Amino acid sequence: MNRVRVGICGLGTVGSGVFNLLSTNGTEITRKTGRQIDVSLVGCRRDHPACDLSTTTVTRDIFDVVRSDDVDVVCELIGGTDVALDLVREAIAHGKHVVTANKALIAHHGESLFQLASEAGVSLKFEASIAGGIPIVKAVREGLAGNRINWLAGIINGTTNFILTEMENAGNRDFADVLKEAQDLGYAEADPTFDIEGIDAAHKLTILSSIAFGVPLNLAALYSEGFSAITVEDIRFASELGYRIKHLGITTRSEQGVELRVHPTLIEKSRMLAQVNGVMNAVMVGSDAAGETMYYGAGAGAGPTASSVVADIIDVARSDGQSGGVPEFGFIPQALETLPMVPMEETASCHYLRMRLLDKPGVLARISTILSQHDISIESMIQKDGKTGTAPVAIITDEIRESAINEAIAELEALAEVDGKISRIRVESF
Ligand code: HSE
Repeated sequence: MNRVRVGICGLGTVGSGVFNLLSTNGTEITRKTGRQIDVSLVGCRRDHPACDLSTTTVTRDIFDVVRSDDVDVVCELIGGTDVALDLVREAIAHGKHVVTANKALIAHHGESLFQLASEAGVSLKFEASIAGGIPIVKAVREGLAGNRINWLAGIINGTTNFILTEMENAGNRDFADVLKEAQDLGYAEADPTFDIEGIDAAHKLTILSSIAFGVPLNLAALYSEGFSAITVEDIRFASELGYRIKHLGITTRSEQGVELRVHPTLIEKSRMLAQVNGVMNAVMVGSDAAGETMYYGAGAGAGPTASSVVADIIDVARSDGQSGGVPEFGFIPQALETLPMVPMEETASCHYLRMRLLDKPGVLARISTILSQHDISIESMIQKDGKTGTAPVAIITDEIRESAINEAIAELEALAEVDGKISRIRVESF
């Protein structure tokens, strides 16, 4: 039987998951591919307690893996964009197929790496880079290939969703404590600010947008907001108003161009995305023929991410590295179309505004006057008892352009009757 020899670079959460999955399901995978897929070499700084490496060759220099004659497929599982970029380039130069879980690498350097891979006649696969165990790349690129896709919206960072869910369920659980749990479970990035500040979701959404619309990668045009400003008070107000707060990646295509944005979002509790909790991810896609479809599953962790890495290895084994006619982004490279990017100020959403107001007559009237001067109408509102002289108020507006709500917020914050900053969260109906 024609063996496939896998070299693993990086033996952290994902690398150890891939090592163990290839071994645990080896017989099943051979039944599916007709080939024996073995790990022939592991490159890692230190062994992983979950892996029995007693019969595997291990090197402390990951570049040994890409240079080895005993490796057909390199799994790049170290993350980052510096060493990983050199590693993948060198693997391709040595004629190796590459499977990666590295969204930052693809979002920053995908096109040049695909070009190198194509010239070298090898595959570069990245299913595991987005939404952990959900085969979302394949679903959008291949399953929906007959459709024109109009929008895509998803919860694509497991760590963020895990923390938001805990904040909602446990009420006052300490943020650092929940983050530590997400790190212990292997969900968080090496630098967890990538999760919390929306950078990880931005990488993933950039790739998804290219696959959905056939546009070049455009991370620089993406608007990104993390969720560190969200408080338990926001979560409670949102709940009373009938919403949950989720951290969403949203990309749309219209006559105006492409929107690409990542930010906290209020979603009505009855919507499916509002039911996605813990480390689970979900991606909704709006397309012309299939209509609205949703893909759900664990977005991080050893097993789910390994599932996607191993699926890519199996693809390589089945096709012997031939692409089978599927371009990396689902569109032939020369057909990628540069569309205008809609600036954030020109997008429109409903908004949630939370503020503290001096508890005296006429204040609410002043607030609603300023909103109406910007053509902003109020859809619903809650005011709480102002025991300390100021009263917390939460407002949901109708849909309004970002530039108008920005101006209104600046005017409101300048009022003596508004105490401190206004918390603002967009409201969407996906
Ligand atoms: N840190 C990422 C997350 C890992 O939490 O979703 C999976 O990409």
